[in-house]
Amino acid sequence: MNNVWQGGGRRIHIQEVGTRDGLQMEAQFVPTEDKIALVDQLSATGVAKIEVTSFTSPKAIPALRDAEIVMREIRRAPGVVYTALVPNVRGAERAIESRTDELNLVMSASATHNLANLRMTREQSFDALAQVVRTAQQAGVPVNVSLSCVFGCPMEGDVDEAETAAWAQRFVDLGVQGLTLCDTTGMAFPTQVGRVTRAARERWPGTELTLHFHNTRGMGLANVLAAIDAGADRFDASLGGLGGCPYAPGASGNVCTEEIVHALALMGYDTGVDLEALLSASRLLPVLIGHDTPSQLLKAGCRLDLHPAPADFEAVRERALARPH
Ligand code: COA
Ligand code: ZN
Repeated sequence: MNNVWQGGGRRIHIQEVGTRDGLQMEAQFVPTEDKIALVDQLSATGVAKIEVTSFTSPKAIPALRDAEIVMREIRRAPGVVYTALVPNVRGAERAIESRTDELNLVMSASATHNLANLRMTREQSFDALAQVVRTAQQAGVPVNVSLSCVFGCPMEGDVDEAETAAWAQRFVDLGVQGLTLCDTTGMAFPTQVGRVTRAARERWPGTELTLHFHNTRGMGLANVLAAIDAGADRFDASLGGLGGCPYAPGASGNVCTEEIVHALALMGYDTGVDLEALLSASRLLPVLIGHDTPSQLLKAGCRLDLHPAPADFEAVRERALARPH
C-alpha cells in the first residue's frame, strides 16, 4: 500500500518544519514530552530533515523555550537531519551543545522585516551571523541560511531580487552548505518562483537549495510545482499546515506536508514519505494545540479514499434502468 505513495519518479526531499515554524506561533504551550513524541513520530515517516525547534530568546518565542530538552531527548533515526533555527551566537552554542545536526540561521531579505523580527539592520545581522558561521565551522556543524521575505515583504512590498541574491552570495562565500529562500507571508506566485529558483540553481549549483512557502494566499502547492519545474528538489512543509512568523503581519501556515506529499505522489515524484504515517501524526495535532489545523487532506481524505454509494442506490439504479431510453 505504501508503495502507492512512493512513486519511482524524481526524488523530492521533504523537510518538516511543523515543530519549529508551526509551534512557534501557537498560543497553547505544547508539553515538552509531547513535542518529543511528535518529532519521534515524524522521524518514522521518511522525511529528509526535521526542524526540531529554535534556540531563540525564550522571551521572544516562549513556545519553544524547551529547545535543549527536546533536541537532546528525541530518538534520532539514521538518515534524518535534525536541524534548528538559530538567531545568534548564543543560540548556536546552545544548539551545538544539544547535538543539533545543522544550524539554520535566519536573516530577512527585507530591511523592515529584519528589524521587526531580529531587531538589527541586515548589515548587523550579517556580521553577527558570520560569527555564528565561524562558531559552527569550528564545531564541524553544517550551516543553512534561511532568507525570509525573499518573494515579498508585508511591510515593504516587493523585495529587490538582485539585492537578495547579493546577500545570499555573501553567505555562500562564507562557506555555508545550504540556502533556503523563504516566502514568509505567502506573497510568492508561480512565475516569480520559477524565475528566482532557476537563477539560484544556476548561480549556486553546489549549494543545497530549499524553498519555503506559506499558503497564506492559496498559492503554496502551485509555487512548489513551479519550483520543481525550475530545478528545485527540497521543500520545507509543515504537518497540518501550521506555521507563521509572529513578527510578520498576516503570516499564516506553511504549505501542508501531507497535502504536498499526496499531490507529489499522484504526480509520480518520489518523496520517500509514508503518507499514512504522516496522516496519523497530523491527526494528533488538534489535541496538542487546542484547535483544528488547516489541513484539507485530513478533512477530505486521500484522492482514492472512496465513499459508499447512497443507501438507496440499488433502487435508484433499478428505477433508472426500467425507464425507456
Ligand atoms: N537564546 C536564549 N536567550 C537569548 C538568546 C538565545 N539565542 N538571544 C538572546 N537571548 C536573551 C538574552 O540573554 C536577553 O535576556 P535577558 O533579558 O534575560 O538579559 C534577552 O534575550 C535579550 O537579548 P538581546 O541580545 O538584547 O537580544 P534582543 O532582545 O535584541 O533579541 C533575538 C534578539 C533575535 C535573539 C530575539 O529577538 C529572538 O530570539 N527572536 C526570535 C526570532 C524568531 O525566531 N522569529 C521567528 C522565526 S523567523
Ligand atoms: Zn516560515
